[in-house]
Amino acid sequence: MDIFEAIRTRRSIRDFTGERIPDEDLEKILDAARYAPSPENMQMWRYVIIREDQELKEFISAISKNAASEVFGSAAYELTQGRLWYLPDRNRPGTFEDMRSGDLFLYPKDADAVIIGCGSETFHDSPLIYELEYFGSIVVGMGILNMWFAAHALGYGAGFQAFPIMEPRRNELICERIGVPRTWVPVATLSIGVPKKPRMMGPSRFPLESVFYSERWGNPYKRLAFREEE
Ligand SMILES: Cc1cc2nc3c(=O)[nH]c(=O)nc-3n(C[C@H](O)[C@H](O)[C@H](O)COP(=O)(O)O)c2cc1C
Repeated sequence: MDIFEAIRTRRSIRDFTGERIPDEDLEKILDAARYAPSPENMQMWRYVIIREDQELKEFISAISKNAASEVFGSAAYELTQGRLWYLPDRNRPGTFEDMRSGDLFLYPKDADAVIIGCGSETFHDSPLIYELEYFGSIVVGMGILNMWFAAHALGYGAGFQAFPIMEPRRNELICERIGVPRTWVPVATLSIGVPKKPRMMGPSRFPLESVFYSERWGNPYKRLAFREEE
C-alpha cells in the first residue's frame, strides 16, 4: 500500500472478530514500531503485548468502559452531539449511547493483541528531566502510529485507547497487573485484530486553512486551488 493511501484510509477499528493474526504478520507490525524516530535515537519506549491473557484483555475492556462512561456519561447529548458533527444524523444518537454506556470501548477483549506503550522520564542520566509531555508520550505515539499503519497495510485493524490508562488510579491498576516499574508510565494502548467489517472513509477532517497558519498565528494557509493565477 502506498503511504499516502495508508494515511488517507487508516481508521480506528473498534470491532474485532476475535480471530488470531498469523505470528509473522503480528511481528511485522511490532517491528514497525522500532523504526519510529526518538530523541538521540534513545528509543525510550517499551511495549507490553497482551495476547494470551484473555482475563487481562477483559479487564482492560472493563476499565475502558468505566472510564468512557465517566467521561461521556456526564455530558448532555445536546453538547456531545456537536462533537459528533461528522456522523450522519441517523447514527448520532446510537453512537452517543454507545459512548455514554462505554460499550463502544469494550473492543480490546476481541483484539488479538493489546499493546501497552510505556514512556519514561528517567531513561538516562541527563540533569534535565525528559518530560513525558515532550518526549516519552510522543515517541510512544510515533511507534504506535507506525504499528497502526503496518496493521492497516496488512489488512488488519487497530484502535488507540487512552481510556485504560488516562487516569492515575486506572494507570496504577494496569501497572500493577503487568508489573510496570515506577520509572515507566503507560501512555497509550493499541488493540490490533481482524476487523469485523471495513469502515467507511472519514470522519472528515478540518480543511488545511483552518489548521495551518501561514507565517503568523491565525493567518490561514492558502491552498494552491484558491491561489490567484500568477
Ligand atoms: C491521543 C488519542 C487518544 C485517543 N483515545 C481513544 C480512546 O480512548 N478510545 C478510542 O476508542 N479511541 C481513541 N482515540 C481514537 C480517536 O477517537 C480517533 O482517532 C478519531 O476519532 C478519528 O477517527 P479515525 O482514527 O477513525 O480516523 C484516540 C486517539 C488519540 C490520538
